[in-house]
Amino acid sequence: MGRYLRIEDLDLGDKAVFLRVDINSPIDPKTGRLLDDTRIKAIKGTLEALSGSRVVIGAHQGRPGDEDFTSLRAHAELMEDTIGRRVEFVEDIFGPLARRAIGELKAGDILLLENLRFASEEVLDAPPEVLAKTHLVRNLAPLLDAYVNDAFATAHRASASMVGFPEVLPSAAGKLMERELGALEAITESPRRPCVFLIGGAKVEDKVPVVRSALERGYADKVLVGGIVAKVFLRAAGFALGNGDEAALSKRAALVEMAKGLVGKWGDRIAMPRDVAVKRDGGRAEVPIERMREFDSSMDLGMATIEEYRSIISGAGTIVANGPMGVFEEEGFALGTKAVLEAIANSKAFKVIGGGHLAALAQELGISDKFSHVSTGGGALLKLLSGGSLPALEALERAAERFRPKA
Ligand code: 3PG
Repeated sequence: MGRYLRIEDLDLGDKAVFLRVDINSPIDPKTGRLLDDTRIKAIKGTLEALSGSRVVIGAHQGRPGDEDFTSLRAHAELMEDTIGRRVEFVEDIFGPLARRAIGELKAGDILLLENLRFASEEVLDAPPEVLAKTHLVRNLAPLLDAYVNDAFATAHRASASMVGFPEVLPSAAGKLMERELGALEAITESPRRPCVFLIGGAKVEDKVPVVRSALERGYADKVLVGGIVAKVFLRAAGFALGNGDEAALSKRAALVEMAKGLVGKWGDRIAMPRDVAVKRDGGRAEVPIERMREFDSSMDLGMATIEEYRSIISGAGTIVANGPMGVFEEEGFALGTKAVLEAIANSKAFKVIGGGHLAALAQELGISDKFSHVSTGGGALLKLLSGGSLPALEALERAAERFRPKA
């Protein structure tokens, strides 16, 4: 038996189970429509394994203040279509409406609670014993028999729904969580060298520390940066950015400082763009990084950088990639992200991609099956593979010690 329990290790029959999932999905800001059901499809196996239980699903969407911080009503509808079972939605988290709906559940029913992050406690990063005393856990735990965590993509967050419940309820990992952790073991235990990380996209507050940890702990032999992450490193290396990019980094001075330290210490192991693509006369133009400042914002890797990144990728033993290399949604600026993704797909390395953008692009290009693993996680994937700990996994391991059924 592993360090955490699996659904089969607990007798969940018709029990009331809190199932934490990650169905955080891209949303069309104008219509509120969900644009991708990958994460919803990914929890199908777990819902099948719990088909006789009374399932209470907890999930989040977006972050407070962001455009995609919305209700989960649309998720319930999409989930119903995707899994072909009735999914009841309640516009409440732990108040009377939610508690009554949970109390009325029958074996085989599925109830989705409102966006957990509408409750301020869910964005509290605190020790497990504090999270176990939150209103969410104190109000719902008495109505529940067990807890299952299938939210691999949120496993790097120590929030109440991820870490609080396993302190007080018998807890197990869901099928997706198991699959993700199993597939990634090959890298965490003995990665084939050289190990190359490609880190792009946004969420730089999470990603620059990941670059540091991957280099310091020796998980990455080389880190290739793109997207906004590359801008932080270019700024740290002393290059002036365009006005738009400078403005975006103005509130991130501490991150630029951290990147400066990394460039000073690990400069030979960090590859950053030598040229970029910018918008000129409505189209794509290539410029060396010394001229970036003349344009509002850089939008993609330039051709010379694409070639350099391709060559590093072709020599890798293990590749971990998360986040696009530029503004790939805009016509003419997907070149870098596509070229790099195709180079990874064609390499002989053990290759893992994560995060919604790369997974969706791989699907669009019809190359998803060329990867060793396509993860539903972005930040969680990077944290695990750069040697960081996942609070949700640690919580499941502690729960296994406490609640392991007697043989
Ligand atoms: C993700 O999309 O990476 C997860 O849902 C976690 O989201 P967060 O970075 O807002 O915690």
